[in-house]
Amino acid sequence: MSDILSHTEAGVLTLTLHRPDRKNSITSAMYTTLADALDSAAGDPLVRVVVVQGSETVFSAGNDIAEFIAAPPVTEDAPAFRFMRSLAAFPKPLLAAVCGPAVGIGTTMLFHCDLVYAGDNAAFSMPFVNLGLCPEAGSSLLAPRMFGYHRAAEALLLGEPFMAEAAMEVGLVNRVVPPSEASSVAAAQARKLASKPLVALVETKRLLKAGVAQSLPQALAEEGATLSRLVQAPAAQEAFTAFMEKRRPDFSQV
Ligand code: COA
Repeated sequence: MSDILSHTEAGVLTLTLHRPDRKNSITSAMYTTLADALDSAAGDPLVRVVVVQGSETVFSAGNDIAEFIAAPPVTEDAPAFRFMRSLAAFPKPLLAAVCGPAVGIGTTMLFHCDLVYAGDNAAFSMPFVNLGLCPEAGSSLLAPRMFGYHRAAEALLLGEPFMAEAAMEVGLVNRVVPPSEASSVAAAQARKLASKPLVALVETKRLLKAGVAQSLPQALAEEGATLSRLVQAPAAQEAFTAFMEKRRPDFSQV
């Protein structure tokens, strides 16, 4: 079975992260599938709205850490970077239903979603520094704009998880619901949007995003270049190895 499930009904494309044995962590193949799905949905008249979701217990554990070691994203055309560009450029309404851990790209992809519905078990985190890495997916630009600088700095420098209610307070989440309802609430909102005139939805989203339209590609490029450098450096290598060996990382030498 595929790690990304895809289903289109009544103008709504639902993409479900489905790699339960690895907590929906995202591999290069999954980034490519997601980028392809978004790129084709952008031009597909049968798709008016997209929903991204995980399961009731986990949204995503972020980038697959074994792949960070074996096939790190070090060029602009790396699948992870391609996915981030497709996500940032996606012109139609994009919704997310988030339950359980949403780590790394599991949280940063939400900055590009228009509506986010979270289960009360959702735990968001951007632990890039703890992995010897830097922000990605435009989060260095978008988190301070959304959260305010100090709360963004707290989330990105300390990298500690924050729960659904805190995420709603900083504007990352629209509504907190029981985990069993997150997917159906997102689906109902998606159906509502799909019944509206697409041209007006697309123009409204474009105007809402106009304030970052110029700066986002540059932020993505700068973050990508920095991450490509850091992902191969000793701090990140120690963090990845420690994760695989199920021990605490030792940064005293890096
Ligand atoms: N990459 C690769 N494997 C991962 C993974 C990831 N990002 N996240 C979890 N897994 C694997 C674990 O190694 C474990 O494998 P095992 O069964 O062979 O031991 C399995 O998935 C289950 O994970 P586990 O940590 O036991 O689940 P949990 O419910 O206790 O914790 C998380 C869930 C998401 C909080 C935790 O797995 C985690 O912190 N993952 C890493 C997140 C991360 O740093 N991602 C990178 C962000 S840039």
